Amino acid sequence: MPTYSIRKKILTGTPRSEGASSVCAFIFVAAIFVVSVAASAQIYLPQSPPQASQYGQVLLNNHAARGPGPVVFDHWLHRSKFTCRLCHVDIGFAMQANATGVSATTNAQGFHCGACHNGTTALDGKPTFPACSSQPEAKTCHRCHSVGKEEVRQYTYEAYTAKFPKAFYGVDWEAAEKFGMIQPVDFVEGLSVKRAPMKSREDFSVKPHYSWVRPIAFSHEKHTIWNGCELCHPEIFPAAERGTAHYSMFANIEGQYCGACHGKVAFPLNNCQKCHSGAPVWVP
Ligand code: HEC
Ligand code: HEC
Ligand code: HEC
Ligand code: HEC
Ligand code: HEC
Ligand code: HEC
Repeated sequence: MPTYSIRKKILTGTPRSEGASSVCAFIFVAAIFVVSVAASAQIYLPQSPPQASQYGQVLLNNHAARGPGPVVFDHWLHRSKFTCRLCHVDIGFAMQANATGVSATTNAQGFHCGACHNGTTALDGKPTFPACSSQPEAKTCHRCHSVGKEEVRQYTYEAYTAKFPKAFYGVDWEAAEKFGMIQPVDFVEGLSVKRAPMKSREDFSVKPHYSWVRPIAFSHEKHTIWNGCELCHPEIFPAAERGTAHYSMFANIEGQYCGACHGKVAFPLNNCQKCHSGAPVWVP
């Protein structure tokens, strides 16, 4: 499949060289304390993420009172099978918990969860178990409406991710894809629109605003493969001209810019080193 090989080439290619920085690790970490304390007498540090099995878990409970109870949606399972783009662009899920307005009706009409969970669309070689319908509560209902119920789920984080490469925190998703352990699908017949293949463009990173900040590892090209364009532009990164905006660490920690994904679904912000090459591994 040609798209897959392009994808594979970009994701497995040798890392781009990242300019050396002489900034001492201590100053680097200390700076975020000092700057933030001076600015607002508040310490801005990324929160420690929850247990890896709960990272990226969304509890859907807008209608919990009217149905078989709240619904648990896990990114670890779904992102291993599909790209972010497929769900957040083609299917149209919001990038914010409980903002989409998923309901039994939308699911039964084939939108939202029901776009895949309809009992007929074959994904993974078998039809995907159906979402809400008017049939009386059955075992399949509890696979999603699982809060407070035991042994209703077939997948557990531990068993499912046991063989995946692990990193500083939880699964190293980039490595899992690079080694071919996961091959997230970007196109589902009937849900996605056929697009012209992506034009190859020169890859680029984000240049730090301050000269003392470690160079930032960010591949525009790799992010495009996972996220498409629409997930980032125009909402998360409106200023499209390179090098003009300052994506401050404070804003990131508050969930803007990089923090719209990192700290929620993509690797968490306290893994400083993964973005600031050469920074110390630091777990607050
Ligand atoms: C199978 C579909 C699916 C895939 C694949 C998927 N998401 Fe999501 N995502 C959702 C749903 C559903 C929600 C919750 C939306 C709601 O509650 O309205 C969500 C919510 C989010 C949120 C908000 C979480 C919060 O706690 O506020 C972020 C951030 C996010 N997704 C990022 C990603 C990223 C990054 C990827 C790819 C690595 C990804 N998603 C892949 C379906 C998906
Ligand atoms: C892009 C397709 C897609 C979308 C959209 C999607 N899912 Fe899934 N989901 C799957 C597939 C495929 C599986 C694996 C099914 C299997 O192996 O039986 C799955 C599995 C699950 C499981 C695991 C059940 C278990 O027994 O462990 C839950 C829970 C789940 N989905 C909830 C949801 C919810 C809630 C939504 C909507 C907010 C949703 N999914 C949207 C494709 C999707
Ligand atoms: C693939 C996941 C999934 C499955 C399976 C599923 N549901 Fe749902 N259901 C949802 C989601 C997501 C919501 C919205 C949850 C919220 O925000 O409170 C929901 C909401 C509901 C509601 C709340 C009322 C409303 O108007 O939205 C009812 C009732 C309901 N489901 C019934 C069922 C029944 C009955 C079954 C089994 C036949 C079932 N659901 C199976 C995902 C699922
Ligand atoms: C993960 C988020 C993300 C994704 C996905 C993404 N971009 Fe960007 N894009 C950025 C960031 C961040 C910048 C700004 C870099 C800066 O300010 O230095 C940028 C800058 C740009 C620029 C200005 C670059 C320049 O040369 O001045 C263009 C054009 C652009 N993006 C187009 C795209 C297109 C087209 C896609 C999809 C093929 C895409 N972007 C996908 C984050 C993203
Ligand atoms: C997801 C990537 C990412 C992670 C993880 C990350 N940073 Fe940053 N950091 C950035 C970006 C992007 C900038 C600002 C780039 C610019 O100047 O526009 C930045 C800037 C900074 C700055 C300079 C101040 C500023 O606001 O410009 C400091 C200090 C900093 N980071 C410290 C840290 C520390 C300490 C950690 C770990 C706790 C960390 N960063 C984790 C992406 C990240
Ligand atoms: C739309 C969601 C999204 C946004 C916004 C985003 N990322 Fe990512 N990023 C991802 C996903 C998904 C991965 C794959 C690895 C993972 O999920 O842990 C990733 C991987 C990375 C990687 C490792 C791969 C690479 O590019 O070399 C770095 C470094 C990174 N992000 C930095 C950043 C920085 C810096 C920003 C802000 C300028 C940013 N990201 C914004 C979703 C996002």
